[in-house]
Amino acid sequence: MSDWYRDFANSGLGTTITRQLGLPRPAVLRRYEPGQPLLTGPGLVGAAGEGRLRDVVSGVLAAAGVRVDGGTDDERLSAVVLDATGLTGPAQLAAVHELLAPAVRRLGPSARVLVLAEPPADAPTVAQAAARQALEGLVRSVAKELRNGATANLVLVPSDAEAALASPLRFFLSGRSAYVDGQVLTLAAAEVPAGDDPDRPLVGKVAVVTGAARGIGAAIARVMARDGAHVVAVDVPAAGESLAQVANAVGGTAVALDLTAPDAGPRLARQLQARHGGLDVVVHNAGITRDKLLVNMDADRWNAVMAVNLQAQLDVTQALLDADGVLRPGARVVSVSSQSGIAGNRGQTNYAASKAGIIGMVRAWAPEFAARGATINAVAPGFIVTEMTATMPLGTREVGSRINSLQQGGLPVDVAETIAWLAQPGSAGVNGQVVRVCGQSVLGA
Ligand SMILES: NC(=O)c1ccc[n+]([C@@H]2O[C@H](COP(=O)([O-])OP(=O)(O)OC[C@H]3O[C@@H](n4cnc5c(N)ncnc54)[C@H](O)[C@@H]3O)[C@@H](O)[C@H]2O)c1
Repeated sequence: MSDWYRDFANSGLGTTITRQLGLPRPAVLRRYEPGQPLLTGPGLVGAAGEGRLRDVVSGVLAAAGVRVDGGTDDERLSAVVLDATGLTGPAQLAAVHELLAPAVRRLGPSARVLVLAEPPADAPTVAQAAARQALEGLVRSVAKELRNGATANLVLVPSDAEAALASPLRFFLSGRSAYVDGQVLTLAAAEVPAGDDPDRPLVGKVAVVTGAARGIGAAIARVMARDGAHVVAVDVPAAGESLAQVANAVGGTAVALDLTAPDAGPRLARQLQARHGGLDVVVHNAGITRDKLLVNMDADRWNAVMAVNLQAQLDVTQALLDADGVLRPGARVVSVSSQSGIAGNRGQTNYAASKAGIIGMVRAWAPEFAARGATINAVAPGFIVTEMTATMPLGTREVGSRINSLQQGGLPVDVAETIAWLAQPGSAGVNGQVVRVCGQSVLGA
């Protein structure tokens, strides 16, 4: 499923034509490969005011072999990390502008702009809250101005959450976050285990992936296995053959199970306990659509979507929490929501309601998970290129895939990389968050 327009726009003739006509030129995004360096060129670490995270950032980058000297003037920058935790009020935002403007001019392909700040809600004064919130508008706008596959994101780091920064920092700088753009992530204080192997962070983990027989679920299974996990691939019995193929290809285990069956949760819990002695990661990816305008929506369509997309996630998660010792310490739950759950979508009242419900679910469960040393988060994909989108009429597909800052659709692997990152032990300080994998889609922005 190649992107014909992107390939054309990057060809010799296509470059000339798109330039002359002022047409968009979507970049070929830098995506993660095991063993790949975190960044391809030098990074620049700066601070507006007194940045308390500057040393932590430089340390993480240096450990990953990144030059943090900002390079020479004629070198392209691979990343700019700006520590804005020291902002004391709106006047200091000028320092952010002063630092970012020349750096952005020097960015190379698929470069990263990452701003670190404290959460506005924690600000001791109104002026500080205003200045911190201002960064969100700034970063989201920079993300829209960047070209050539570069992204900009904002990470809010409360004063007690410094230890949680390394894993999000590596994610946002790496090719794993290729299609995550214009996002704001808020960290929380957490005990972060030391020493994840950046190339095999899930070694020794048992990860359940639902809806794994095809599409995004199969990509999640592949990425989790590549990162070292033993994958338990779950899908409906009717998808048994393709499910077995996916499970075999990743050296995992196939479990044929309809997740809407009344005893699905307890059955899964028993199997995981008996075969694997418990589990570490659950990815609720199984989902269906039954689109109709609300006025034409029958109860069957409504109920089917709610049952698979929301109720099954609630019931299975509850069953795993209830089953003594099945969810191991440091467990990770990641739910697949959707941009429709944030922006709404014509013809998808049932689907959008179920996907918004998932966001409510992870936010409500986050404190209980934190108390267990675990996390629960949601990932909300935007336009992802799959077999399904390949069958859309050309016009609908072209508009749907281009209305984002990266001017292209994402790939299943982009969703999978984000989920695998949230599943890492090092991501302990990311909890109750919704990470959009949408290239900064204009929908629901
Ligand atoms: N494709 C996109 O652009 C996109 C965008 C946003 C969100 N999503 C979400 O991502 C997830 C995966 O989407 P996809 O495009 O790969 O879909 P898909 O239809 O290709 O795969 C979904 C899988 O879930 C399985 N499934 C459905 N009901 C089940 C049940 N009761 N029990 C067990 N398994 C069941 C299906 O058999 C299928 O293998 C879904 O939750 C979807 O809503 C997709």
